[in-house]
Amino acid sequence: MFSRRWEWCSVLQLLLLPLLVTGIPGHSESETITRASGSNVTLQSSKKLLDNFTHGTWFYTTNQKIVEWDPKEVNYFNTKFKHRIRLDNQSGALHIYNIQKSDSSTYILRVSEEDEDEREVKIILKVFDPVPEFVIQIETTKEVGDNCYMNLSCRIPDPSVDYTWYGDSGSFPKELHRSVLEVTLTPQNQSKFYTCQISNPVSSKNDTIYFLPPCTLARSSGVTCIVIWLVILVPTIPVLLLT
Ligand SMILES: *[C@@H]1O[C@H](CO)[C@@H](O)[C@H](O)[C@H]1NC(C)=O
Ligand SMILES: *[C@@H]1O[C@H](CO)[C@@H](O)[C@H](O)[C@H]1NC(C)=O
Ligand SMILES: *[C@@H]1O[C@H](CO)[C@@H](O)[C@H](O)[C@H]1NC(C)=O
Ligand SMILES: *[C@@H]1O[C@H](CO)[C@@H](O)[C@H](O)[C@H]1NC(C)=O
Ligand SMILES: *[C@@H]1O[C@H](CO)[C@@H](O)[C@H](O)[C@H]1NC(C)=O
Ligand SMILES: *[C@@H]1O[C@H](CO)[C@@H](O)[C@H](O)[C@H]1NC(C)=O
Repeated sequence: MFSRRWEWCSVLQLLLLPLLVTGIPGHSESETITRASGSNVTLQSSKKLLDNFTHGTWFYTTNQKIVEWDPKEVNYFNTKFKHRIRLDNQSGALHIYNIQKSDSSTYILRVSEEDEDEREVKIILKVFDPVPEFVIQIETTKEVGDNCYMNLSCRIPDPSVDYTWYGDSGSFPKELHRSVLEVTLTPQNQSKFYTCQISNPVSSKNDTIYFLPPCTLARSSGVTCIVIWLVILVPTIPVLLLT
């Protein structure tokens, strides 16, 4: 049994060795930049350790070159970025215009001096779409005596967002931070309003719905009706034209 265990340990060490070697601090560092889609971004090492280099290459992921340069020329590769980038050949900064969600990646800048070791900087770019406008939908309502049971929903298709619900007494507990809020209104315990806030690292939107006890909708942002009408009207218009 013991020898079997030792074999496993050795195998593990062998597997971990490359991780340990590449993980040495200072050898390769990474920074993270978060931006909204449609904005411009400048990828640039915040560290001065890249001074005095003469050759450089920017990579999109580990194997796709975006641009490389030396003292004599700058060469832009044929990538999806070709018409959206500009290199500052003095600092090595890479400007990317009109960034898209699909531009999210780990960018690598590799620089070297003549006859010198290469140095590398990793920049992780995370691009998020701004949170869209939305309205709270009342999915289901059930009135039992003076009590009212409801499911309120503010679901949007983007899976990378966070949901937060607020009522009279502030933010609901974390475990209720989902797209659907199950509420119970009793004569003793009710909230006059519910706010759903949807956020991601670049933006945040909210909508509020108001109630009169036990189960009467007092006020919502009203857009619900328009949305429903559009959904019904759009498919019927071509049908009307055809008949
Ligand atoms: C991005 O840069 C371009 C060119 O410099 C400029 O016209 C545009 O307004 C910038 N966009 C944003 C969102 O700053
Ligand atoms: C860059 O070069 C200058 C002079 O050529 C030198 O003084 C400086 O120490 C160098 N910087 C680095 C980080 O090597
Ligand atoms: C570097 O940039 C400067 C100013 O933008 C430009 O004049 C020069 O030609 C560029 N050098 C190369 C090798 O492209
Ligand atoms: C709300 O949704 C939950 C889970 O989907 C369901 O069990 C519950 O019956 C719903 N409440 C009402 C009032 O429909
Ligand atoms: C009132 O409702 C909230 C959320 O539905 C719940 O967390 C709280 O415990 C309730 N309070 C009482 C006194 O029932
Ligand atoms: C909801 O959004 C408005 C602006 O649209 C903001 O003033 C308000 O503070 C937000 N409320 C919450 C609870 O986040």
